[in-house]
Amino acid sequence: MPHILTGKQFADKKLLDKIFAKAAELEKADGGKGMPKLLAGKIIATLFYEPSTRTRLSFESAALKLGGQIISIADAKTSSASKGESLLDAIKVISGYCDAIVLRHSENNSAEEAVKTSLVPVINAGDGFNQHPTQALLDLYTIQKELGKIDGLKIAFMSDFRYQRNIHSLVPMLSSFSNLKLYLVGPKALALPKEFKEQLKASGVEFEELDSVDSILGEVDVLYVTRVFKERFSDEAEYEKLKKSFFVGTNTVSRMKAQSIVLHVMPRVYEIDPAVDSDPRAAYFRQTKNGLYIRAALLLYALDL
Ligand code: CP
Repeated sequence: MPHILTGKQFADKKLLDKIFAKAAELEKADGGKGMPKLLAGKIIATLFYEPSTRTRLSFESAALKLGGQIISIADAKTSSASKGESLLDAIKVISGYCDAIVLRHSENNSAEEAVKTSLVPVINAGDGFNQHPTQALLDLYTIQKELGKIDGLKIAFMSDFRYQRNIHSLVPMLSSFSNLKLYLVGPKALALPKEFKEQLKASGVEFEELDSVDSILGEVDVLYVTRVFKERFSDEAEYEKLKKSFFVGTNTVSRMKAQSIVLHVMPRVYEIDPAVDSDPRAAYFRQTKNGLYIRAALLLYALDL
C-alpha cells in the first residue's frame, strides 16, 4: 500500500513533479467545474491526537471536494485513547471503517507503527518531532509555483531545526534539486540535528549555519520561517527566551529582493509581524491554500487513483 510516512519517500524528482502536476490540475479544476469526484464511495479517517487547524481541515476539505466522506477524531480526549486504548488497537479497528487514515500523533514514529496494524494506507500528518511530509511537499510546491523553479535557489530557513518536523521531511526532498544554497539561521540550542546535516552533506546540498539573517537577506530567494515548537519544551523559560530568536518585520522584508518570497509553516505565533502580510512577498497564506491541492493529490496517490 502506498503509505505516506517520511520525506525520504519523496526524494525523487519525477515523483515530486507528478504530485505537483496533479495538485496544479486539481487547483485548476477547483477554480472551474470542480474537482473530479474520484473519492466517491471512499471514507477518509482523520485521526488527530495532537491539535491542528490547517492539516486536518485541508485534508478534510480535499476529501470532500473529491467526493469522499470523512470520519474524524479531532480531539483525543473524545476517543477511547482517553480510556487507555493503544494506538495500534485503535488503528486496527478504524482501518476497518475507512479507505485511508490521516494520522497526527505526538509520538515520533507513530505513523510507521500504525502501518503494522492498518488495513488501509496511512498518511503521516505529523508525528512528534520526527516527520511532516505533507507539509514539506506543500512548501516545495509553493516555492515552485511562486518562483517557477527550485533548482539554483538560495533559501534561508529561520527555524527551530531541532523540533520542526517539516524541516526533517524537507531535508531528503531537497537532495532532488541542484545548485541549492541553504542558510540555516537560528540559535545553537535549536540547531539542525547531526543526522540531517549528514544527509545534506551526503547529497551534496550546500548549507551554512548562521545566527542572523542580516548578512544574507539581500541575496535570498526564499525566507522560510517557523515558530519555535513550544509544546516540545519542558522548560517554559527556555521557550520564552528562544522564541524571540526569530522575528520578521517590514524592515526585514524591505531588504529582500523584489522577486523573493517569505514562507511560514504556520501557525504564526510571534515570528512575522502582521504588517508584513500586505507585502506581495508574503506568500504564507498562499502557501496554506496550496496545502489543499497538495493534500488532494496525496489522497489520490495513497489510494492509487
Ligand atoms: N502547519 C501545520 O501543520 O499546521 P496545523 O498544526 O494547523 O495543522
